[in-house]
Amino acid sequence: MGAALAMNIAEKGFGIAVHNRSSEKLDDFMENVGDLEDQVTPAESLDGLVAALGTPRAVIIMVKAGEPVDSVIESLSEVMEPGDLIIDAGNADFNDTRARHAALSEKGLNFLGVGVSGGEEGARHGPSIMVGGDREAYAPIEDIITAIAAKFEGDPCADWLGPDGAGHFVKTVHNGIEYADMQLIAEAYGLMRTAGVSLGDMAEVFANWNKGPLQSYLIEITAEILAVTDSPTGKPVVDIIMDKAGQKGTGRWTVIEALKLGQSATTIEAAVAARSWSAGKEMRAAAEDAFPGVRDAVDLANADLEAALLAARIIGYGQGMALLAAASEAFEWSLDLARVAEIWRAGCIIRSALLDEIASGTREGLQFDQLILSPAFVERLNETVPALRRVVAASVSSGQPIPAFAAALSYFDTIRRARGTTDLIQAQRDFFGRHGFERVDKDGTGFHGPWAE
Ligand code: 6PG
Repeated sequence: MGAALAMNIAEKGFGIAVHNRSSEKLDDFMENVGDLEDQVTPAESLDGLVAALGTPRAVIIMVKAGEPVDSVIESLSEVMEPGDLIIDAGNADFNDTRARHAALSEKGLNFLGVGVSGGEEGARHGPSIMVGGDREAYAPIEDIITAIAAKFEGDPCADWLGPDGAGHFVKTVHNGIEYADMQLIAEAYGLMRTAGVSLGDMAEVFANWNKGPLQSYLIEITAEILAVTDSPTGKPVVDIIMDKAGQKGTGRWTVIEALKLGQSATTIEAAVAARSWSAGKEMRAAAEDAFPGVRDAVDLANADLEAALLAARIIGYGQGMALLAAASEAFEWSLDLARVAEIWRAGCIIRSALLDEIASGTREGLQFDQLILSPAFVERLNETVPALRRVVAASVSSGQPIPAFAAALSYFDTIRRARGTTDLIQAQRDFFGRHGFERVDKDGTGFHGPWAE
């Protein structure tokens, strides 16, 4: 990723020095820079890297999240000078970014936590870039960042979003939405596969969906993936891949931060859970034997699956946006949520036709920070949720696993009830712990029920 980003920067006409702690990787990189050689200075050490830069210096680091970031920052801060800038462009837990920002400020060093989305290809040819940190620290590098970013109708998909950890937080939630979207797509694939749809036909279904409101990078690559054959075996490639999903932490961080902020991004949580459960392959095999019950194929119209995916995708995005709004308030970031949606319209993994609509809906102002209450999405959900309900109902009664679809629908049904059932929870809390409750007919708090002693 770092190499791809470096090539992108050099290609846009900026001089750059590069370092990798493996000299082999550095040599490989220099062998592949081709025409860009004059723009690139290789450095065998961090000292050499820093010495090759004009002042004030700016260094981008792209290493594994966690301890490796701290270790590189530590070494860099020994050789950099006050006024210089360190940019962490990897995925990072925003709590770490906040701490690093504070620690480096004390040394007079600037620090930006920058989320870069788009995978290897995006980094090379135009990612979406979410910048967090001091705005003044961003100003000197803004022209580089906007030059290398993806463009949506000419608008660079890069911006400064807020102070300290704001950029990494937004990137984390982006990834949470990515997890939800990937899981929903996998569930739709699972339902079709159980129903006996061939992978070739399924590839066509996804390719067709990609021409409609579901148009997105993830649907597009799903259509492509399903059509690929593993050459040694001649089998479809998905058939030879072990069904155990990896995860590096951003989905989990999204869920943890949602809970800490008194939110609950359940569609994302279901996606994280499904990846975690997938790791227990042998246990699942044992459970398959122990619980042979109903496990029937579900006969669903493609149009219903398509609409259900759209409804659940909107709900997943909505939970992500509500989480961003809550974080913005809690950390006083003043995030411009419409701008966030705008810079997700191209370059990033969750880029989709929906994001342009999300950006304009959000720009008009969201009631209660709820994307799903914006007029365009109210209309879309009224159209598509009946299909989501049919998909969930049929899957549940046939024993088909659809954790993310079900989570999206449960959330939707829960929040569209003005009078819920937590009156009873409050009564129970008061009964056993005199926790007190509010009344519907009087102002104030701390009322108690007439429970027997
Ligand atoms: C992106 C991706 C990128 C990476 C994920 C994979 O926006 O470009 O999200 O950040 O592919 O970190 O994450 P998992 O390994 O957790 O799926």
